[in-house]
Amino acid sequence: MSTMAPDRLTPVLTDIWDVPESWKLSTYRDHGGYEGWTKALTMAPEEIVGEVKDSGLRGRGGAGFPSGLKWSFLPKPDGGPRYLVVNADESEPGTCKDIPLMLANPHSLIEGVAITSYAIGGHKAFIYLRGETVHVYRRLLAAVREAREAGLIGTGLGPNGDYELEIVVHAGAGAYICGEETALLDSLEGRRGQPRLKPPFPAVAGLYARPTVVNNVESIASVPGIIRHGKDWFASMGTPKSAGHGIFSLSGHVKNPGQFEAPLGITMRELIEMAGGMRDGHRLKFWTPGGSSTPILTEAELDVPLDFDSVGAAGSMLGTRALMVFDETTSVVRVISRWTDFYQHESCGKCTPCREGTYWMKQVMHRLEAGKGLPSDVDLLLDVSANIAGRSFCALGDASASPIQSGIQHFRSEFEAGTHTPAWELFPYEASAIF
Ligand code: NAI
Ligand code: SF4
Repeated sequence: MSTMAPDRLTPVLTDIWDVPESWKLSTYRDHGGYEGWTKALTMAPEEIVGEVKDSGLRGRGGAGFPSGLKWSFLPKPDGGPRYLVVNADESEPGTCKDIPLMLANPHSLIEGVAITSYAIGGHKAFIYLRGETVHVYRRLLAAVREAREAGLIGTGLGPNGDYELEIVVHAGAGAYICGEETALLDSLEGRRGQPRLKPPFPAVAGLYARPTVVNNVESIASVPGIIRHGKDWFASMGTPKSAGHGIFSLSGHVKNPGQFEAPLGITMRELIEMAGGMRDGHRLKFWTPGGSSTPILTEAELDVPLDFDSVGAAGSMLGTRALMVFDETTSVVRVISRWTDFYQHESCGKCTPCREGTYWMKQVMHRLEAGKGLPSDVDLLLDVSANIAGRSFCALGDASASPIQSGIQHFRSEFEAGTHTPAWELFPYEASAIF
């Protein structure tokens, strides 16, 4: 695995990342930036929604929900406010695409925010960012200021000067659960971030109970290209049901980890080749298609097209395309134990299966990691995880169960190796012998 396959790369979102001062408005404009916004302002809002719908763009935050369809769920305008909220709370272990995108090319996001807000009839948009990423916060603030000073957002927009748009960049407080869209909205409203009951979906009752579109950074940053080049251009990349390009983040035991932009449907084998192959002298043991929340896969799935349906059919999820690569030197129990610590720590505590279950799974994983598990622990893990998955209030519960379930499915013997037969079973005695 060493041959590069540059023909499989589609640098659209990442096209200017290596250009000096790529984050500046002038650099972005030199490369066609804001042409999509200029064109959008000559189109009817519903025409833009139709274009995005027909392009086949599916949400890049993990769930893959069709973006244009989500926008079309907004009720008819009633004169009240409606909002766009960009979910920039990227926190999934292994996921590293939105933060580099906002750092390298914040204007691609701002242009997408402008087009989407116009399409849904919104005049105020929020970018909800992980609070820890202060450098990204500063860069976004500077880019919003640049766009406002250049008259690209603000008041008097459009051919008739009757459209206005304000963009607010909001820094969260570092809770993983605030990446769940309704917890994010609660946090944005100033409350403790915990998921809301759905329905109603945010499209109907979102921020301040008003119609709201919540979309991921990469989804919104993909919109300018679709408007500029057209739906057919976008749909010509990827697969029929997973159109377009996406950023794949490779981390772990490959020679050159990083972000690779490619059409959906590329395979893990091709991406590992692009990343220079595995570390010398090592071979792949397991990998994740979409961060720690998606069931792990092995060498057997290296040629599965990385699109929403094929990865699902292979028993996992495409998720955020956070491809973490582990070679044979890795203890699967140790890795999954770290992930379980993470989910237990980040569980918001609202529902019992996740709040209690992640705690118990963590205890058992620590026992196994220390080689002090009981012979019944592997089945106990399967039992606890089965009582979390599908029985929790939000996706975090399911996410905590999936690495344990898939880890045991592929590497049960490694979990069993962490168990020992307790002394009382090795030396059984009759109670009557004592009394
Ligand atoms: P979901 O499938 O429940 O919803 C996806 C989107 O479609 C949401 O915006 C939802 O409001 C909308 N939607 C669904 N049905 C609708 C309807 N009938 N009417 C109107 N809108 C509708 O998925 P969810 O819980 O929003 O996201 C889970 C995903 O998030 C996972 O697949 C995971 O991969 C990903 N994730 C991403 C992280 C990151 O750091 N980027 C972190 C953790 C999870
Ligand atoms: Fe909170 Fe976990 Fe329940 Fe989600 S599944 S609501 S994170 S306790």
